[in-house]
Amino acid sequence: KFKERVFSGVQPTGNLHLGNYLGAIVKFVELQKTHDCIYCVVDLHAITVPQKPEELKSSIREVTAAFIASGVDPKQHIVFNQSQVCEHAELAWIFNCVARIGWLNRMTQFKEKAGKDRENASVGLYAYPCLMAADILVYRATHVPVGEDQKQHLELARDIAQKFNLDFGERIAALGHGDAFFPLPEPLIQGPAARVMSLRDGAKKMSKSDPSDYSRINLADDADIIAQKVRKAKTDPEPLPSEVEGLAKRPEAENLVGIFSALNGQTKLDVLRQFGGGNFSAFKSALVDLAVAKLGPIGAEMKRLKDDTDYIDKVLLDGASRAKVIARENLAAVKDILGF
Ligand code: ADP
Ligand code: NA
Repeated sequence: KFKERVFSGVQPTGNLHLGNYLGAIVKFVELQKTHDCIYCVVDLHAITVPQKPEELKSSIREVTAAFIASGVDPKQHIVFNQSQVCEHAELAWIFNCVARIGWLNRMTQFKEKAGKDRENASVGLYAYPCLMAADILVYRATHVPVGEDQKQHLELARDIAQKFNLDFGERIAALGHGDAFFPLPEPLIQGPAARVMSLRDGAKKMSKSDPSDYSRINLADDADIIAQKVRKAKTDPEPLPSEVEGLAKRPEAENLVGIFSALNGQTKLDVLRQFGGGNFSAFKSALVDLAVAKLGPIGAEMKRLKDDTDYIDKVLLDGASRAKVIARENLAAVKDILGF
């Protein structure tokens, strides 16, 4: 009954990295061939932790530039930033009243990001998954390409959609929306790079906020920096295995092989057929060449576009006005259902 539609977002918090690219943005590009897609720079999420006002706009433009440089088409699809479509925040409030405190208390990302001083975390950081549910559902999106780390938040979005559909079932039907107003959005999480790990520690995910710059490859890194980071990446003393099973309990090796396979569009087994039995230094050299070949042009185009602020701002403005048409209509229906 629901028209298939893709929604996803990336936070403008600087240091856009290989994990964001392989875990999310590559899929954004692929899905454009088969779906109507809405891609959002989620700036309201960024301020759940402190942001420097003088850097926020530049980070918003950087993520927009990264989308376009990677192959997202803002003409055929919609690219915009969240704070320009106020319906996200309005639906989020309504979802704050649908979600239960017990549901939010289970969110592991809040626990990680709030750290030990939980009393001092922002209310926004705690309620973040409700805003994320609103981001998706204000478009009644059916599919959400994200990295593995977002799985729990997607489940919460489904729970919110389902509870809303049940709580207001009678009015939803009476107002002619059938037996459900919101679809239950499906996460699209797959492939060898759904969870790219830190280059310094195979137990941590690659992240924008890791204090070590050597933990991640940034999309803006030039060839020399990429080469240094890959060469310094942590490994173990064993040669590479010839079978995928041999990567078990070798998180650093598994991560690098996963990155290689995702960048090259090969399976891990293909990669191991080529490099299995050899040491890491030959493999790392090939990985540097591959990463530079794939990411170099994207990084260069991203920098060029980012400086063309007129163009980027126009893309965002146009995207916001098109997004708003859909969001406004859905929010009006929600308010009707609620009895406003
Ligand atoms: P971050 O988690 O780096 O702060 P965002 O929360 O803005 O970035 O995430 C943007 C997208 O990138 C999300 O779909 C998220 O799941 C994905 N992503 C983030 N880190 C990784 C990673 N290490 N591996 C795979 N995907 C990731
Ligand atoms: Na994230």
